[in-house]
Amino acid sequence: MSAQNHISRITAPAITARKGGDPVVCLTAYDAPTAAILDEHCDLILVGDSVGMVVHGLTTTVGVTLDMMIMHGKAVMRGSQKALVVVDLPFGSYEDSPLTAFKNASRVMMETGCQAIKIESGSYAAETISYLVERGIPVMSHVGLRPQSMNVLGGFRARGRKKEVADEIIENAIAADKAGSFAVVVEGVSEEIAEKVTKAVSIPTIGIGASAGCDGQILVTPDMLGLFDRVPKFVKKYANLKGLVEGAVEDYAKEVKARSFPSDANTYKFTKK
Ligand code: KIV
Repeated sequence: MSAQNHISRITAPAITARKGGDPVVCLTAYDAPTAAILDEHCDLILVGDSVGMVVHGLTTTVGVTLDMMIMHGKAVMRGSQKALVVVDLPFGSYEDSPLTAFKNASRVMMETGCQAIKIESGSYAAETISYLVERGIPVMSHVGLRPQSMNVLGGFRARGRKKEVADEIIENAIAADKAGSFAVVVEGVSEEIAEKVTKAVSIPTIGIGASAGCDGQILVTPDMLGLFDRVPKFVKKYANLKGLVEGAVEDYAKEVKARSFPSDANTYKFTKK
């Protein structure tokens, strides 16, 4: 990673400055070729711990490790040049103390070259956020449906249907803002709550399953590309990658069996000098 690489990228303060302005375009990526495609159109690329589910086949994000995040973070940094790259701190790597969070977040930043980290922000998180920010680590927070807490929440359902829960989500977002987060992801809440959060905080809200009124949007890229049959209600499939891959693999298998692949066009010939 060169200093040049950093200077030419969108910065965390530049994302904060977009509050109430042009919507912030964000997607997830986990590998270099996908990051290279997203880079042209995205302000922010998140190396989400969703990698555990959409790449490694885990049923939740709880089994994702710091080493996995670092490996995918390095790949995304290699593939992109312009977007702000944010890497998720996985379950168990930041919750117990600000010091643990700093040790793991600084390792992620030093080894990947990414410019920021994201943490799922319950009521305990404010102290950790300010500790990290004061020590040079930009933090994106994540409120509402927090997938790392799915064992406590009882599943991946939208949150905030009860007033106490709605109030808690808004309070967590305000606390994350006051503690110095540069942006906050708002996941799996009603439009009303997303809009209340957006009004209540001074930083951009990045919605996923939230509201078009948020300051930006994010989706899990393999979901929006149609790699999976089943996706949450809030996902719009912008392509049918699964169908395309199935068709291509079927054609390949037929041609291999018929010995029509490789053809002359895909074969080296011995040429005499
Ligand atoms: O892990 C992830 O991909 C995320 C997004 C859903 C925001 O946290």
